[in-house]
Amino acid sequence: MIEKKELTVLLPGRELKLHVAADIEALITDVNDEDKVPCWADVWPAAYGLAYFIWENIDFRPGESVLELGAGMGLPGIVCGLKRADLTLSDFNPLALEMAGENARQNGLNVTLLEEDWRTFACREKYDYILASDILYHPQLNPFLGEIFINNLKPAGKIIISHPERKATYDFLEAWYDHSLFSQEKLIREVELTDALLPRYNIVIHVFKSLRA
Ligand SMILES: C[S@@+](CC[C@H](N)C(=O)[O-])C[C@H]1O[C@@H](n2cnc3c(N)ncnc32)[C@H](O)[C@@H]1O
Repeated sequence: MIEKKELTVLLPGRELKLHVAADIEALITDVNDEDKVPCWADVWPAAYGLAYFIWENIDFRPGESVLELGAGMGLPGIVCGLKRADLTLSDFNPLALEMAGENARQNGLNVTLLEEDWRTFACREKYDYILASDILYHPQLNPFLGEIFINNLKPAGKIIISHPERKATYDFLEAWYDHSLFSQEKLIREVELTDALLPRYNIVIHVFKSLRA
């Protein structure tokens, strides 16, 4: 049983309540196994940046689908759901998915939960949008995400990636980005967090639009 605490997220004109783990250190079971790092149990600054960006800039058409990869607590995906997208939250950690699903339900959403590891990703569904909030941090995992971006995006779909100016993300995107397959827009969204040691972040948002018709 995970001890939880409530988090309030203020979007312009809308207040959102989520639950995150109250004590992340208590969830550490094996410090030598990277897969067991409980980085899913809180909302990362990049997730706030992506959530604000989506809330302020994107209007989904009825029936448009969104897949959030490495969703953790699910904030950016939930914002898409509030804007009427058809939402799938995905993570390889079942506890993360359980909490993300509860967070979605407590904000009035019906969502699909997809338990998948990027290294063995078997889902063949294609989505209008794929969200990636601070998940391109590991040079060995990044190529698997690159394949999912290609395989699971609908023609003319968009991949939206956010990160706090991570070198591993920039390096991956520089190698992965193919001008003949995608157009790219890049912007910075400032994020201020009241209860963090480091309160201010510049979150980089990349929007890749598929050029396939
Ligand atoms: C840094 S956290 C980011 C969480 C969330 N996107 C956010 O920004 O708040 C990375 C997320 O990716 C998930 N993850 C890590 N490795 C994964 C893998 N191999 N397959 C699927 N999900 C994975 C973790 O469980 C965690 O939820």
